[in-house]
Amino acid sequence: MKTVGRFISFEGTEGVGKTTAIDGLCQRLQAAGIDYIRTREPGGSAFAERLREILLDPATDINDDTELLLLFAARCDHLQQVIVPAIQRGSWVICDRFTDSTIAYQGYGRADGDSEILAKIDSLIEQFITPLPELTLWLDLPVLEGMIRAGKRSAADRFEQQAMDFFTRVYAGFSTLAAQHPERIQRIDASGSSAEVEARIWQTVQNSFDLL
Ligand code: TMP
Repeated sequence: MKTVGRFISFEGTEGVGKTTAIDGLCQRLQAAGIDYIRTREPGGSAFAERLREILLDPATDINDDTELLLLFAARCDHLQQVIVPAIQRGSWVICDRFTDSTIAYQGYGRADGDSEILAKIDSLIEQFITPLPELTLWLDLPVLEGMIRAGKRSAADRFEQQAMDFFTRVYAGFSTLAAQHPERIQRIDASGSSAEVEARIWQTVQNSFDLL
């Protein structure tokens, strides 16, 4: 089906079930005959995937500013090479994390909501990142529950190695963002079965884009 290009991001702390939730949404889009691409950050383009490897590698030793700039370099390339062309073709873009992750992880997790750092991030977004997602699905699950779920997976990457306090700050970041952007960010209760979470997401997407 030929549709207007759409841009949807998924956000949340570790272990909230983003991958399964995105699988579910993609299946529904396919069944509805909607053309879509599925992508992720950091990464999503060939160059940005190389930066992802560096960013997630526990052996990478960089300071917070370098990390922030690498994330934006990856995002710029991903946007230009993958996201914008897909939207222009009329595809839906389903992106696992986007700018809100930078505000939550770098702005709140790393910098504890420091206003100077948040202003730097806002300015990078303003200067380099267009378009922003029209709809952001924030999968909300208590941090501890997510960490237990994430802990069941393979070896921890550079971010997953952070302590509980870090993820509590990241969670506060997402929750602040959701309050600041109620028109764009929809909170999705990520507790319960994956079928329940998928149904909540599909309902929200249908409501947001008049698919009902
Ligand atoms: P993932 O595990 O959801 O694929 O995400 C990779 C990690 O990168 C995750 O721990 C969150 C982190 N991250 C940031 O710190 N800042 C960002 O801007 C993005 C996109 C991800």
